[in-house]
Amino acid sequence: MQSLDDFAAGKLRELDRNNLHRVLAETDRLDGVWVERAGRRLISFCCNDYLNLTHHPAIKAAATAAIARYGVGSGASRLVTGNHPLFGELERRLARLKGSAAACVFGSGYLANAGIIPALVGSTDLVLIDELSHACLWTGARLSRATVLPFRHSDTTQVEALLDRHRGRHPRALIATDGVFSMDGDLAPLPQLSALAKRFDAWLMTDDAHGLGVIGGGRGSTFAYPKPVDVPLQMGTLSKAIGGYGGYLCASDPVIDLIHNRARTFVYATGLPPAMVAAALAALDLIEREPGYAALPLAKAKTFARLTGLPEAQSPIVPLIVGEAEAALAASRLLEAEGFLVTAIRPPTVPAGTARLRFTFTAAHPDGEIERLAALVGKVLPRQVESVAP
Ligand SMILES: Cc1ncc(COP(=O)(O)O)c(C=O)c1O
Repeated sequence: MQSLDDFAAGKLRELDRNNLHRVLAETDRLDGVWVERAGRRLISFCCNDYLNLTHHPAIKAAATAAIARYGVGSGASRLVTGNHPLFGELERRLARLKGSAAACVFGSGYLANAGIIPALVGSTDLVLIDELSHACLWTGARLSRATVLPFRHSDTTQVEALLDRHRGRHPRALIATDGVFSMDGDLAPLPQLSALAKRFDAWLMTDDAHGLGVIGGGRGSTFAYPKPVDVPLQMGTLSKAIGGYGGYLCASDPVIDLIHNRARTFVYATGLPPAMVAAALAALDLIEREPGYAALPLAKAKTFARLTGLPEAQSPIVPLIVGEAEAALAASRLLEAEGFLVTAIRPPTVPAGTARLRFTFTAAHPDGEIERLAALVGKVLPRQVESVAP
């Protein structure tokens, strides 16, 4: 239809003008570290496969065995016939790891966030959300139709002021934040947020997509502090360090029972395929068995940050903010020419004026490559970034 195509073409022209048009690049991930793109072998410093489990032989074998035993798909919603026996085992394991009474596995992390928040709060309620929280946490907050008030990144003084002012007008209040911020790599101030949540009778929810497996002894951001923090709603994903796909919520028995009944993305979506559940179980085995291995991505990120003079890494994610989208694209192209794949991160994934390179570190990154990358970033990149900056 002409009007439809004209609309799309107009929108794309606008994106082009602002250097924000994104295109898919075919990428053959050869293992947990190396990729092939347009016939070139590159070392990737931008995957979330922190423990290189996407290609781990034991994880692949577990997935293959589950397909042979249970089939490829789940066949229906978990509330109909899709609840294959592996789910219970994974949910017990996740709950144990996270120190909660129960857990619920969703089709993905995005689906989890889009389903959890609207199941717990509604139009008369209040949601306070860190401004830099992941897009799908925002999606859940908006879908709930609650009053959504963003707070400045990790600013607990503002959280306190907002609760003081608004809490009394709403029957229920939720504080939502990433545990590890996906584009910045820093940890949320969970002990302070937990204390405020208790004081104002608000419910604290963390999105721990980038914490599970690599932070807090593998148990996630809740366990990254001197004392474990009381977080009654711990959400996460199986798609990063776990190496597969799927999302989850760890919470109390009644909350999980309610989620089974009220979360639309759980009730009305097909259960996660058995292979992914089996892969997650094998990944948890490995993380619990090999804490030294699970600690490597953070250690490597710290080394890189030290070598480049960037602030100390708190997670395997190290951002280098360059400003404008064009500058981030140029910096990414420069690294690619030297054999490093580091995708430029542009708005709206990050706020305008904070386009960046987001370096991620995995257990298997060779130290020599990290040193080569750090040398390049330290010497060549700042000059290149300056020369393309407006
Ligand atoms: C912080 C955060 N939350 C949620 C998600 C969504 O998880 P999934 O990819 O499993 O849908 C992601 C990943 O894209 C993320 O980075």
